[in-house]
Amino acid sequence: MSASRPEGKVTAPLLRARKKSGEKIVALTAYDYPTARLLDESGVDVILVGDSMGNVVLGYPNTLPVTLDDMIHHTRAARRGVTRAMLVADMPFRSVGITEDGSVAAAAEVVAEAGAEAVKVEGASPTTLRSIARILDLGIPVMGHVGLTPQSVHRFGGYKRQGTDAASALAVLRDAKALERAGVFAIVLEALPPDLARRVTQAVSIPTIGIAAGPHCDGQILVFHDLLGLSPEPPPPFVKPYASLAGDVRRAVTKWGADVRSGAYGG
Ligand code: KIV
Repeated sequence: MSASRPEGKVTAPLLRARKKSGEKIVALTAYDYPTARLLDESGVDVILVGDSMGNVVLGYPNTLPVTLDDMIHHTRAARRGVTRAMLVADMPFRSVGITEDGSVAAAAEVVAEAGAEAVKVEGASPTTLRSIARILDLGIPVMGHVGLTPQSVHRFGGYKRQGTDAASALAVLRDAKALERAGVFAIVLEALPPDLARRVTQAVSIPTIGIAAGPHCDGQILVFHDLLGLSPEPPPPFVKPYASLAGDVRRAVTKWGADVRSGAYGG
């Protein structure tokens, strides 16, 4: 075991208990075996195979084209690298919230076929809440996601902070409480004013995991590529990168190319 990795398998009940203990939840995305293994060895509690893979590894402009097959393929790869962290798979656009039967079948597939230990579902529409209840009935833990839910980017008119006026703040609070009542074990709060994230965090008995939502949540999640500056494009403005790997890749590959061309590298 790595020196930085705490002991003990992370589970949904353990994460729920963090609400009381106050120990912050550390969560990151991963979409492949080596990344998932490095994060697991570094003590990350939750590894999310996010549909953000659409943006950061598949080159799409948004998450909407990501398919259930994409999720299964990448979750399987991440699964092979994870022993301690809880492995959560995102339910992609079109998989949940159209029909309840379709939703539960899709969630069952990412658990049975790919080895996810929980699924994350965006939003809290009536159909989504009923679908979540069916998924929970089958014994699959569900993580909720409110605020800026990227699968609704067209409804929001872009990637805009949510909950910035009284009515939309109330809607976020109402959605979070509905998800708590439905039985989710944690809720991602994305792109909310920090005061609203604090209100939501205080209003629910399950942990909140924030992204661009300030410091008052019960945990934090980021897209791996944003944390490490690994994308060719600059990270979103709220991210403070802890490395600049895209620059390192460009520099190393350019240098190696020059050495090959000059004959200095003979491998
Ligand atoms: O898809 C994703 O990576 C996410 C997180 C950023 C919360 O939903």
